[in-house]
Amino acid sequence: MYFQLTEEHEAVRQAARDFAQQELLPGVIKRDTEMKFPTEEVRKMGEMGFLGMMVSPEYGGGGMDSISYVLAMEEISKVDNSCSVIMSVNNSLVCWGIEKMGTEEQRRQYLPKLASGEWIGSFCLSEPEAGSDATQQKTTAIDCGDHYLLNGTKNWITNGGSSSLHLVMAQTDPALGHKGICTFIVETSWPGVVIGAKEDKLGIRASDTHTILYNDVKVPKENLLGPAGGGFKFAMQTLTGGRIGIASQALGIASGAYELALNYAKERKTFGKPIAQHQAISFKLADMATEIEAARLMVLRAAWMKDQNLDFGVAASMAKLFASEVAMRQTVEAVQIHGGYGYVKEYHVERLMRDAKITQIYEGTSEVQRMVVSRAILQGQLYQPMWKTQA
Ligand code: CAA
Repeated sequence: MYFQLTEEHEAVRQAARDFAQQELLPGVIKRDTEMKFPTEEVRKMGEMGFLGMMVSPEYGGGGMDSISYVLAMEEISKVDNSCSVIMSVNNSLVCWGIEKMGTEEQRRQYLPKLASGEWIGSFCLSEPEAGSDATQQKTTAIDCGDHYLLNGTKNWITNGGSSSLHLVMAQTDPALGHKGICTFIVETSWPGVVIGAKEDKLGIRASDTHTILYNDVKVPKENLLGPAGGGFKFAMQTLTGGRIGIASQALGIASGAYELALNYAKERKTFGKPIAQHQAISFKLADMATEIEAARLMVLRAAWMKDQNLDFGVAASMAKLFASEVAMRQTVEAVQIHGGYGYVKEYHVERLMRDAKITQIYEGTSEVQRMVVSRAILQGQLYQPMWKTQA
């Protein structure tokens, strides 16, 4: 067991930290307030290689491992979670999905654009009646010979108003249940793709989340991604990796709030000394640092397992479950440490508190993660009792 990052990992972390501080911090409050999509910032993220970090260099990506990716996600999420969710969906869901399941032609056609940020992608699984129970897809794709005809509605789609490409899950044969679901690569410029209402959200307000409608969209046969009927498994596999990205986002939110709270507590004086020296605050800081460290180890372990091609599903769910709950708790504490200043936008912690909540909801709620973990326990995959019970 070796707990040391390599020099390359440290360099990625430093580059992401510098980028977040120099490029994202200056306008982050304004973008959040105005719900302004960070077009220019996303362009720069593409230039820096943050949008296709794990994509193989032959398709224009950075060829990095998942550990590098989570380190960069943490740093960017300390500052701007609208940018980090765009980064997360593009890397973990869209690019990963196409590289893993795509044909050589699909990879060559789409990955260079997505990895450079020329295009960004969306992952279109959720529907009004298919959220946590994702098998209940009502969007249909009818086989019409040389193309599929796509009809349906997706909601909560991240990057919905800005993406050029959608990975869309749709039912091709309802009689087959989840085994009838397929995934399609859909270009948003095609006739029949309609960008619906934009959500006015509590947090990650500069990212654009939309309803999308598909009205008789002709999808060429060659845009089926992966095997016919394999769309549900594809979605689950992809989301499993995505959960590591959201866990690292949650970790970044928690550690960003902690850093702000620590700085403030060392400067702010009450009763003749910095508040960090009052036990009421110093114990909070100790708990925050301890929980963040535990979350970081879980995130890095899940990323490491993915890089080693181990079965990382439970580790990813545990990391997301724990890190997102830590993010929620720690941002509330960070606001409390700031007192009244924590309640105003200028000090950043109120935004991080609002952003934290979504990490307990998207890419599988905390309840979904508990389902994944508890099923693994009951199926005997982990933590079995050492003690024999009396018959
Ligand atoms: N990898 C591969 N296959 C998997 C899998 C995984 N992680 N999880 C399930 N499967 C397979 C199973 O093996 C099974 O296959 P067979 O029928 O061949 O045996 C099949 O999928 C069905 O599995 P389950 O019976 O376990 O499925 P379930 O209906 O009970 O669902 C669930 C399990 C964990 C609740 C799942 O539905 C789930 O994760 N739901 C949440 C969906 C979600 O995360 N949505 C997020 C939307 S995307 C988003 O938020 C992106 C964004 O824009 C930010």
